[in-house]
Amino acid sequence: MGKAYNELKTHIESVLEDKIRQVKIHDDERSARAGKLDLSLPGLAPRRGARHLIIQTIEEITGIFQRIGFSVVEGPEVETDYYNFEALNIPADHPARDTMDTFYVGVPARAASAELLGGHGDQGQRLLLRTHTSPMQIRTMEKHKPPVRVVVPGKTYRRDNPDASHSFMFHQIEGLAVDFNITFREFKGTMEYFLREFFGPKTRTRFQSSYFPFTEPSVDLAATCGACDGSGCRACKQSGWIELMGAGMVDPAVYGFVGYDAGALSGFAFGMGVERFAMVKYGIDDLQLFFQNDVRFLQQFRR
Ligand code: DAH
Repeated sequence: MGKAYNELKTHIESVLEDKIRQVKIHDDERSARAGKLDLSLPGLAPRRGARHLIIQTIEEITGIFQRIGFSVVEGPEVETDYYNFEALNIPADHPARDTMDTFYVGVPARAASAELLGGHGDQGQRLLLRTHTSPMQIRTMEKHKPPVRVVVPGKTYRRDNPDASHSFMFHQIEGLAVDFNITFREFKGTMEYFLREFFGPKTRTRFQSSYFPFTEPSVDLAATCGACDGSGCRACKQSGWIELMGAGMVDPAVYGFVGYDAGALSGFAFGMGVERFAMVKYGIDDLQLFFQNDVRFLQQFRR
C-alpha cells in the first residue's frame, strides 16, 4: 500500500502547488492594478466620544467645592415623602409643595422601602421622583455627626412642560455645611467665592431675600446673564439676571429631624440648577439643547 500512498501524496502536493501559484498570480495582478499601499489616502478615523456638557459642568462645580473642603456624595432619585418634604420642614398641604408637585411612583416594595425609609415613616409612604437634591441634606446629617460639608450632584424631576427654560428632568447640586460656628458671613463669602471661581472675577452676583421652609433666612442667588451680559434676552426673560440657586442658613427646625443640637450648631445650604450654570457660562439660550443630544451642539463643548 506504501507505494500507492506515496503516489497519492505527490499528486495532492502538485495540485496544491498549482493552486498556490494561481492565487499568487491573481494577487500580483490585483496589486499591480491597485498600485502600492497609498499612504496619502485619508484614513477612517474612529469617532471619539466626550463627556456631556452637563457632566463637565457638574465636575467643575463640585471640583471648586472640593478644593475648599467639601466632599461629594450622591443619593437616590426615588425618594420618600419624608426625605423629600417632611424632614425639610415641608409638611403635607404646605403651599411650598405646589411648585414641586412631582411624579409619584407608588408604594414601595418591602425590600426597597427598608433601604429608602431609613427607619422613618410608615411602610405605606408614597415613593416619588425627588423634586430637588435637598433630601440628601437629611440623609447626610442622619449618617454623620457634625461638622459636615458636602455637595450632592444629581438628577431631579418636576411636573413641568418642556420649553427654553423648563424640563421635567434636570440636574441640581445641593450643598450643606454645618458646624459649630458658621455665620451668615461665611455663607455669603463661600457663595461669592464659588461664583467668581466658576464664572470669572467680573461676574456680578445678587442676594435677594426669599423663602424656603428649610432655611431661615433664605435667599435667591442670581448672577448676570452670560448670554446677553445683563442687557436682557430670551434666556433671562429680558431681566439681565439668571436665578441660579436658592440658599440660606439651615432652619433650626431641620436639625430637630436629624437629632442635631440646634442650640449649638449653625450652617448654610444651597441648591443650584446645573443647566442654568452651563447656560450662563456658555451663552446657551435653550435648555432643550442639553437633552436633544445633537452632536453639532455637543461637540462645541468637547474638552
Ligand atoms: N431645593 C430648592 C429647590 O429645588 C433649592 C434650595 C433652596 C436648596 C434653598 C437649598 C436651599 O439647599 O437652602 O427649589
